[in-house]
Amino acid sequence: MNPSTLRINAERFKTNFEALSKIGATPDGGVHRPTFSQAHLQVRAWFRELAAEAGLEFNIDSAGNHSALLQCADPEAPTLLLGSHLDSVTNGGRFDGAIGVLSALEVLQTIKDAGLYLPIHLEAIDFTDEEGTLFGLMGSAAVAGKLTPQDLLGLRGGRNALLSGLSRAGLTEEGLLMAKRQSHQTLGYLEVHIEQGSRLIEAGADIGLVTSIVGTNSYRLTFLGRADHAGTTPMDARLDAGQGASAFTLAARQQVMRNYPQCVVNIGSMTLEPGAFNIVPERACLSLEFRAHDEDTLDQLERALLELAEKEAQRFNLGLDIESVGAHQPALMSQQIQDVFHRAAKSLNLKTVPLASFAGHDAQSMASICPAGMIFIPSVDGASHSPREYTEWQDCVNGASVLLHAVLSMAIG
Ligand code: GLV
Ligand code: MN
Ligand code: MN
Repeated sequence: MNPSTLRINAERFKTNFEALSKIGATPDGGVHRPTFSQAHLQVRAWFRELAAEAGLEFNIDSAGNHSALLQCADPEAPTLLLGSHLDSVTNGGRFDGAIGVLSALEVLQTIKDAGLYLPIHLEAIDFTDEEGTLFGLMGSAAVAGKLTPQDLLGLRGGRNALLSGLSRAGLTEEGLLMAKRQSHQTLGYLEVHIEQGSRLIEAGADIGLVTSIVGTNSYRLTFLGRADHAGTTPMDARLDAGQGASAFTLAARQQVMRNYPQCVVNIGSMTLEPGAFNIVPERACLSLEFRAHDEDTLDQLERALLELAEKEAQRFNLGLDIESVGAHQPALMSQQIQDVFHRAAKSLNLKTVPLASFAGHDAQSMASICPAGMIFIPSVDGASHSPREYTEWQDCVNGASVLLHAVLSMAIG
């Protein structure tokens, strides 16, 4: 058969997507599958069954990454990895990560069903904890050998959540640190993902060719004041931790918009303690995350935001505790893989545009051990990390089809 005429099975792909969307489904049309939650463990078992039904081999590495495998006869042949993640953010959308894993699986099934022999191994991988419930990009960072013992001490989800999650999933910290793959065994990594923004729709394009992925740093900041009676303590005598945290939140937004217009900052949670109507807050704990496309800017932004936090703490006579809870470096996507994706899209009459990614992705970890590339498909209204996330089904089919033809091109030219 002529491989250029090969097409994915769009009906099977959709059936799988609908079944997957039911696992951890929320009443508002989204999914809730934080890493190692019941729903996450369930979706992983489901993926394993699906791979078995498809007659594919299955592997779980020591970081808990789940893979369906289509192996060639030569054990020395390199592996081309395709994938994404099946975990979700809290009350997230159905498409983020899921489309990438199911596209990868669909590509393996299509090639297998066609009886096409490729001289490389193919692997459809579901990476552990992409979303950062615990660490973020954890499974891919482990595969890339980027995860350090230090990383596992201070992490976004906290150490207790890591340890209890690992134990629920039958994994260990040692395993996480031993999952590195060798570059020479890995031909490349390809990922399909929803755009999570509206640039593709605005450009009237079908496929985004990802040029680079943003770097992200995360901190837990605690403003420290003093608990006092909320009625009897004069306003000017309070050490109100909530004031420092709120002032910092507003000033951080202003600072980024004025001095770092290409960057973003988010304070995604703020907890006041003891947390009562009638007690001046003694502690205010913030989740701070900021992103930039190059390392120098990320470093400058880090200094600027931490100085600002110190300044606001001093203004309200508060203490400040700063804890780093994760950093992911920016990464460039392989030009060669962008070209492969471009040609594959062109052969299917799909219009492409180059795009930088403001979301983090496993491809950014993988880029340090092999050529890595991603494509985006359109997100309606740019909505993501929300149950409002939606992508037209034809766009999902387009993404999986471009992936198929990119794989064929990398495997047989
Ligand atoms: C992952 O989706 C991230 O960019 O936070
Ligand atoms: Mn994702
Ligand atoms: Mn996400």
